Amino acid sequence: MINVEDILKGFKTPESRWARFGPYYAMFPLDFAFEVVKQYSKEGDYIIDPFAGRCSSIYAGGVLGRHSLGIEINPVGWLYGTVKLQPADKAEVTDRLLEVYSKRNDFNLAIERMPLFYRMCYCDEVLKFLLSARQHLSWKRSSIDATLMSILLVYLHGKLGEGLSNQMKMTKAMGINYSVNWWKKHKLTKPPEINPVDFVIKKLDWRYEKGMPTVFDSKVFFGDSTTELDRIVQKVQETDIRFSLLFTSPPYCSVTDYYADQWLRLWLLGGPEIPKYNQEKHKGRFVSKKDYYNLLDTVFGNCAALMDENSTIYVRTDRREFTFNSTLEILQIHFPKHKTEITDRPFRTRTQTEIHGNTSNETGEIDIIMTR
Ligand SMILES: C[S@@+](CC[C@H](N)C(=O)[O-])C[C@H]1O[C@@H](n2cnc3c(N)ncnc32)[C@H](O)[C@@H]1O
Repeated sequence: MINVEDILKGFKTPESRWARFGPYYAMFPLDFAFEVVKQYSKEGDYIIDPFAGRCSSIYAGGVLGRHSLGIEINPVGWLYGTVKLQPADKAEVTDRLLEVYSKRNDFNLAIERMPLFYRMCYCDEVLKFLLSARQHLSWKRSSIDATLMSILLVYLHGKLGEGLSNQMKMTKAMGINYSVNWWKKHKLTKPPEINPVDFVIKKLDWRYEKGMPTVFDSKVFFGDSTTELDRIVQKVQETDIRFSLLFTSPPYCSVTDYYADQWLRLWLLGGPEIPKYNQEKHKGRFVSKKDYYNLLDTVFGNCAALMDENSTIYVRTDRREFTFNSTLEILQIHFPKHKTEITDRPFRTRTQTEIHGNTSNETGEIDIIMTR
């Protein structure tokens, strides 16, 4: 029997070691994810999160014995989620680490050509190893490679001494020029000397020390909910499965750009060396109100086809007018028979944006809870 307190309060169990896996902007506080799943569903129920982020909702569902299904468009969030639901065997991940490291010297010349930012951020050994990982890890296809890659993503940047990089924020990568100037100003132009194999092995030892998490039938799809859900709806409608809890937090209109914030992690996954403004739909800041409205309308409309008539809809969103009003309107259109309650972030210690340093009163989350 799982003891939720053990997961939330410490690192004594495998489930607690993996629960917080992956720094991600606007992530659910862990206790909130577990509380909502516990309060609004029961064991054996089906839960869906179409904007899963680092998948705390899906992980809480799986650990608590619910069938849980997520969708996430950002590869960084998807990797954290898919790996924490089912990490690969530690010995296989370690072998792969050594294999990737053994190919680092193929990149002796490549590092010479890298922009100054990378040379100040990482020592040569780390940079060569990262280039080898970037080239050789098939993180979309192999769970061993996905696990190793996600460990590298977690520690790719962070406080000096805690990650592989020179001083940086952990949750959000700062811009190229900003970082270089900052390091110069603070006399941190030399990156820390780190042996990447020793570093990663220590991290693997800690993460796997208590074993593997036990997670019930859970999966997160990598893709765009507007199209993935069509497929899921078709499949599910052939069965008598209906979902009991829709638990999600959509992107907030014109607030966060998950691609810009994660540009360095996206580089490691094969993205551009110098970050570019991402113009693909659903991968930027959601500046177009029309596109934003259509996204929520399509996704919640498709979810409605999956839900049981007595389901609960739990949506945490931004309290600012456009995002909040659109979300509420769309949910009420797609769930016309549900009663709506608006609450001011229950089960909370700090909001998601406060955790990342935002103390302004203007922003903040609000919860829409719909029940029958
Ligand atoms: C507010 S965050 C969710 C954070 C999540 N609750 C957590 O605890 O990590 C919204 C997420 O929706 C994702 N997203 C945006 N558009 C999407 C789409 N069309 N399909 C799937 N995911 C999408 C973003 O990449 C982002 O990770």
